[in-house]
Parts: sequence; structure tokens; C-alpha cells
Amino acid sequence: MTVRVLTGITTTGTPHLGNYVGAIRPAIAASQRPDAESFLFLADYHALVKCDDPARVEESRLALAATWLAAGLDPERVVFYRQSDIPEITELNWLLTCVTPKGMMNRAHAYKAATDANADGEPDDGISMGLFCYPVLMAADILLFNAHQVPVGKDQVQHIEMARDIAQRFNHLFGQGGALFTLPEAVTEAETQLLPGLDGRKMSKSYDNTIPLFEGGDRGLAAAIARVVTDSKLPGEPKDPEGAHLVTLFDAFANPDERAAFRAELRAGLAWGEAKKRLHDAIEREIGPMRARYETLMARPELIEEQLLVGARKARAIAGPFLQALRESVGLRRFRALAAAPAAAPKAAAPALATFKQYREADGQFHFKLVGPGDQLLLQSAGFAQGRDAGAWVARFRKEGAAALAGAPVTLAADAAVVQAALDRFLDGA
Ligand code: TRP
Repeated sequence: MTVRVLTGITTTGTPHLGNYVGAIRPAIAASQRPDAESFLFLADYHALVKCDDPARVEESRLALAATWLAAGLDPERVVFYRQSDIPEITELNWLLTCVTPKGMMNRAHAYKAATDANADGEPDDGISMGLFCYPVLMAADILLFNAHQVPVGKDQVQHIEMARDIAQRFNHLFGQGGALFTLPEAVTEAETQLLPGLDGRKMSKSYDNTIPLFEGGDRGLAAAIARVVTDSKLPGEPKDPEGAHLVTLFDAFANPDERAAFRAELRAGLAWGEAKKRLHDAIEREIGPMRARYETLMARPELIEEQLLVGARKARAIAGPFLQALRESVGLRRFRALAAAPAAAPKAAAPALATFKQYREADGQFHFKLVGPGDQLLLQSAGFAQGRDAGAWVARFRKEGAAALAGAPVTLAADAAVVQAALDRFLDGA
């Protein structure tokens, strides 16, 4: 069986070298697995949750599309599309919204973090419905394509679990015993390479310690590498490669022989300036040809547009018929003559309700009995002097079902399980 792997990239910002090593490169490698079918999309609707600057949204989605293509994503192998080109996603979003418990969204980490940040004021200040419902849209992205595996960062695992819960609920409500949606699984790379930034902390825009991937060209790369922090050992002094994040950066772009050679040279006193040149060359060897492709693509956006429209067509060929089936399942169907009293069918299938009968014997005493379908005697009461005492017991049985048997002045006239089941049917509100 082929595994369907799907992931989305929120189109905010432009990628840096850490994104390349931690996400882009492994995803492209994974998309070459022969046993997998890959779906990769630009989550530009999700970007709108975080950004209301149209120019930045436009720029980021173009730059990201160009980056992935330049980095080697093969659109023949991978279904590569923009979320906003697939109207079926927003349509499914609504079907899922209607079965998603609000309480589940209240528990989403991203939403809770946003309300916590409002500690002093209204908890929901500045929080849009887009942010609140973010996980439902993400569930639609995933479930529409029945993805088995969703590679994501650890911060996204809760969202995948929510997608599973929503899928289960939808299957239960509308699947008629079968499953409409595949339950997705999050895949987190245990040893995702975390690239250190210029100062040795994790490379991140929020620390302002990033190395650009393509921006600024070769010169931009060299300028960033010049700012990598090292210790102050002089040329000729032996250096300890193990603590140096410059070495970690080098490792991400070198083969095992090169790594060993680099360490040996540092121990033998290689100057940091020289070491930075080696690092630059190693990165440039891999990134340089990609940058050239990136620049070509950025200059010819119509080429990217075309690729993404091909991807959207492939995606919609799958999504369209599936969404049609989902619409049917919830009752959004082409008009037709209604089946005769469809709601009555399940009731008729359930066993007929037993009935209580009250009567008076020749001795003047009041009694009641429970009779099942076909007048089968199930339960027989003792005699009561007052009719209302018999009536009170009947009322109690109707209200409490078999639980009222304990201590009741009655004898069972049939198998206990049968009598109990018959009494408990009164609890269904019948
Ligand atoms: N929320 C994800 C992130 O910020 C991006 C995303 C949107 C996504 N839809 C998805 C990831 C569906 C996986 C599957 O990283």
C-alpha cells in the first residue's frame, strides 16, 4: 500500500538556512520515497490568520513556492499546490466546523497562549475567529486528501490529534458504520537537525541570528558567515571543534570524511577566518545552484504559477468527487422524492415496548402486570389494598426501569434478563 504523506507550509516570511536544513531538505528527500505519495501545499489561508499585509502575503507565497521548486521539489512526483486554489478545502472546513466541539478549540495551545497573553484585559482581545478556528481549517487540509501521515514540527502535533478527533466524530455521525475519513498520524522527526544560528542559539527570526537561504546572494551568505561567533583563539592555536557551532553548521553540509578532516585541521590550528571560508564553500556548493534556479524562477513567476495550477488540478481531481460524497453524507443532496418516512424505520426495528396493565381481582385487591409483545407475561405484582399504591409502583418502574425491581412486591414471570431489558426500555424516553 502506498502511504499518503501530506504537509502544509504557512506562507509567512522567507526561509532561512535553518528552515532549509530542518524542514525543506528532509521533506524533499522524503518525497522521493518510492512507497509514498506526497502532497505539499502552501498554507496561504493560514497565513492570513497571522498577517493582514497583502504585499507581505503575496511576497512570501511566491518566495516560498520558488524556494521549494529551486530546492529540488519535483512537481511530477509531488502534488504541489496552493491551499487557496482548492475551494473544496474551505467547503469541507464548514462541514467540519459544524461537528467540532467549541471546547476542543478552547484547549488549542495557540489559542490558549494568545488568551494568556491578555492576562490583564479581556481574554479574547485581538483574537480573530481565524486564530480560534485555525485547527479546523488544518483538519480540512488533511482530511480532504485522506492523508495517512502528516510530517510536522512538535508544536503542531496537537493540531493533528484534533484532526483525528474531528474525523472520528464525522465518521461516527455520517459514516453509516463505515469510515469516510482516514485518521491521520503526526510524524515528527526525532532527530530533526536543529541548526544553530550566528550566536549558537537555535536559528530563528525571533533571535535575529539567521543565515539567509537565498536572499542577498553569495555575498549575503558570506556576510552572515562572517558574523558567526567563535572563541578568540588565534591562528595556529589548536581549537576544540566539539563546542563550536561553526562546526555544527559545517556538518550540515558536509560528508563524514569532510567532517573528520575539518575537525583535524581545527585541532591543528586552522584560523577561524579560514574555517569560515570552508564553511562558506560547503554551503555554497549545495545552495549555489539552487540559488541560481531560485533567481530564475523569481524573475519568471508565470512559470511557478503554471506549476501550481497543474498541482491544483491534480488535487482537485481527488478533492472534488470526495467532497461530493461528503456533501451527500450530511444530507446536502440533489432533490429527489423522499423515502417513505425514513425516520420511522429505526423505531420499527426496535422491539415493541412492553406495557403495564392494572386491574382489580375478585377479592378487591389491586394488581399490575407487565406484558411483552405477543401478550407474554413478564412481571406480576402482589395485591394492593389501594389502587394508587399499584399506580405508584407502575410510575416508578416507568421512571427507573429495572433499577426499581430491588425490593418491589413483584414476581418475575420470565427470564430475568428479558424482564430487565423490557423495563429498561422505558428509560429511553419511550
Ligand atoms: N499549521 C502548520 C504550521 O504552521 C501549517 C499547516 C497548515 C499544515 N495546514 C497544514 C501542516 C496541514 C500540516 C498539515 O506549520
